[in-house]
Amino acid sequence: MVRDNRPRIEIDREKEMRTKEISQMIDEGGLGTRTFHYEIVKENSSKKGITSKTGVALNKLVANLGVFYIKLHQYHWYVTGSDFFTLHEKFEELYNDVSAHFDAFAERMIAKGEKPSSTLQEFLEHAVIEEKPYHDPISSEQMVGNIISDYEKLKRIAKAGITVAEEEGDNITEDMLIGYVEQIDLHLWMLRAFLNK
Ligand SMILES: [Fe+2]
Repeated sequence: MVRDNRPRIEIDREKEMRTKEISQMIDEGGLGTRTFHYEIVKENSSKKGITSKTGVALNKLVANLGVFYIKLHQYHWYVTGSDFFTLHEKFEELYNDVSAHFDAFAERMIAKGEKPSSTLQEFLEHAVIEEKPYHDPISSEQMVGNIISDYEKLKRIAKAGITVAEEEGDNITEDMLIGYVEQIDLHLWMLRAFLNK
């Protein structure tokens, strides 16, 4: 492929939208423009039943929330120490909230005629939120710190989704995502207050 001098993809919003194939092409210097990048994202995604940039963002949220739901259960089960009663209950509240959004975003995709990921394997493939088996103890502060970092990732994806939903004139999804970012901000405030940071 002939390369030109047009700007390369740099901003976070687009990193969140990259598939493995796209990342590989970028690493190989094969992608030059944002438009071309999105065309390939679209083409790549449509094979899996996702036909819009908004759908790509929603599916990314579905996958991440699927992983986050399990991770919050892990912390709910394994939290120990003087914060046990507070955090055991708080983590349950958070995974119930995650579950509601996980379902709502997937159903929004179906209502748009798109196909959300629906297996644990797909969630792990598409998620940036990481999980790991509970072998070594994690302090309650570390758990809360990890959850803050995960909510920040979700917020970045949701904000990127707001931008593309607006571009595509999907006001319903845009509204859902704005509401979700508002809720994430509340969670972040409370979790940071808990850590006194
Ligand atoms: Fe429980």
